[in-house]
Amino acid sequence: MITQLPDADDVVAPEPFAGPDHPMRKVTRQVAFDGGAAWDGQRADKVAGLFNGMAEGWSAGHVDEVRAMPVVDALRRGGTQLDGEWLEIGSGTGAGATALDGQVEQLVCCDLAAEMLAHAPAELAPRVHTDASRLPFADNRFDAVLMINMLLFPDEVARVLRPDGHLVWVNTLGDQTPIHLPPADVVEALPGSWSGLTANSGSGFWATLTRA
Ligand SMILES: C[S@@+](CC[C@H](N)C(=O)[O-])C[C@H]1O[C@@H](n2cnc3c(N)ncnc32)[C@H](O)[C@@H]1O
Repeated sequence: MITQLPDADDVVAPEPFAGPDHPMRKVTRQVAFDGGAAWDGQRADKVAGLFNGMAEGWSAGHVDEVRAMPVVDALRRGGTQLDGEWLEIGSGTGAGATALDGQVEQLVCCDLAAEMLAHAPAELAPRVHTDASRLPFADNRFDAVLMINMLLFPDEVARVLRPDGHLVWVNTLGDQTPIHLPPADVVEALPGSWSGLTANSGSGFWATLTRA
């Protein structure tokens, strides 16, 4: 079960940006629901190339206060533990690391696109260049896993997350986010049974989920 909390005070409607026909929507659903069949080396290269090409502009335009709001609100109201080790998957140019700075005890960032990582602030967290379909981390290692506008690889997320750890899912433009899944679909895609909290904040929403 997912409990909807009241909207945060800072809620603003997202500008129309990426509706249901956006090509990334299809990829997002395939990766979440079709498992390994939806993700191969060719697709990984294509996605890495896409984000490598956007890295410089992304760094300037995507690490801002409004996009950070759902992350900050998730930490405040989402019931996550702030101590222990967090993993951010698809960390890009460091929007999440900036929002988590000084809040969580330890953070590791990882991303498929080397150029995105290169633009992330190195002093905030170690940056690991890897594909989230095969994470180079031990089972049950992390106390929390954060994904902001990132593809969901359900089995890998569930594998590296401690059994009682939190998955923090954020779409900074709500349903106008190109890589978008509503919290109920995240729960459906994950292996086993999960429950949690969700709320709207800034121009997006967050969900914090644990195994039920
Ligand atoms: C929409 S961007 C979001 C970046 C960052 N989280 C933010 O909010 O600014 C998606 C990020 O996920 C990364 N990504 C896509 N597929 C990935 C994969 N299979 N493994 C790791 N990172 C991936 C991209 O390189 C990109 O940096």
